[in-house]
Amino acid sequence: MTPRPFPKAKKINGTRILLRVDWNVPISKRGPEDSLKLERTMPFLQELSKRGAKIILLTHLGRPKKREAALSTKRFLPLLKERYEIEPIYHKESVGSARDRAKLLKQIGASEPGSIHLLENVRFDVGEEKGTKVLAKAYAELGDLYVNNAFAACHRAHVSVAVLPKLFQSEAFAGPQLIEEVKELSKLLDKPKRPFIAVIGGKKLSTKIPVLKKLFSLCDAVLIGGAMASPFLEAAGYKVGASYSDASAKADAKRLLKKRNLFLPGDVMVMKKGSRMHKLEATSVGQIGSTQSIRDVGPATLAAWGALLGRAKTILWNGPIGITEQKASGFGSRFIARVIGAHAKGPALGIAGGGDTIPVIQDTQTLEWFDFVSTGGGAILEFIEKDGKLPGLIALKR
Ligand code: 3PG
Repeated sequence: MTPRPFPKAKKINGTRILLRVDWNVPISKRGPEDSLKLERTMPFLQELSKRGAKIILLTHLGRPKKREAALSTKRFLPLLKERYEIEPIYHKESVGSARDRAKLLKQIGASEPGSIHLLENVRFDVGEEKGTKVLAKAYAELGDLYVNNAFAACHRAHVSVAVLPKLFQSEAFAGPQLIEEVKELSKLLDKPKRPFIAVIGGKKLSTKIPVLKKLFSLCDAVLIGGAMASPFLEAAGYKVGASYSDASAKADAKRLLKKRNLFLPGDVMVMKKGSRMHKLEATSVGQIGSTQSIRDVGPATLAAWGALLGRAKTILWNGPIGITEQKASGFGSRFIARVIGAHAKGPALGIAGGGDTIPVIQDTQTLEWFDFVSTGGGAILEFIEKDGKLPGLIALKR
């Protein structure tokens, strides 16, 4: 499904453009951190500004339950100025309130062509996640057209992603980064070259069951590592000691164990519980002690997976296969980044993505080696699971 692209030649001088971006980035003590998500949205934003549009930026940040200062978009201002040399006009007003909206309309109307307005976190309005039409209509008053450049949020049927564009009908478009994401990820669904191998890691298996089912039908091999592997190992009769394991996924894990294209680690790196030195040792999955916890995939498994990936023609990687916060246990994920990177752009199509996967790719300096690194997390997985039919994309159907 190709969403309607933003027409390159459109006259936009003075046009008010509601631009949905996904700046839902990690937050440190200093505030939101720079990330690939932010970086990728900049060229289009700057182009629109140069062409004289008045840009009204919409993003979510985190999962606020109410107005939370820590999740205010105001916190982006220093980063935007220092790193990207842009100084948007920040608006604290709530679009859902008629009085605030009247103020916003006035300020946007009075601003210069090329000005950039940054609205407050869209999730501060309770209607956003409920997808209420009243809130969508309120947003629609602020803009002449709508552009979505936020692939990572397209799996959410929220107002700013899936309801608002419908009100703009033929004046709702996909920005270039969204188009690129759809084009690249569609290659995984549209007759991928075989063997097609997926490497799936991360934590919560229960949230990934639907996409795993789809991957088992699409791929020749699905290699599962990280904490995701634990419920499978338990279902296969192994003890995982003190490792994190998603108990709610055990029944599903048991059913999926029958898949002949499922590959689990045969050995793992374990840490003794309470070991402050993060001292790791390799052990076979049959020998994990009751006080030990799995931190990474083991060397024999990495060698076997490396060889398999070396023969693949299509590779998808989502989710670290070990605990990447610590250098020692991040080895497996860094190895996977290098193996896929080395085979991508030629021998295989190598695609990766996900909020925890991208830092590993950046850390190993292999970003340029991949055919494509998606900014989506849950969005990539749902894109695959639902054959590309995400709410945000359906709303922009040509
Ligand atoms: C993401 O980071 O995956 C997107 O921004 C979606 O965020 P959400 O899971 O809070 O909807």
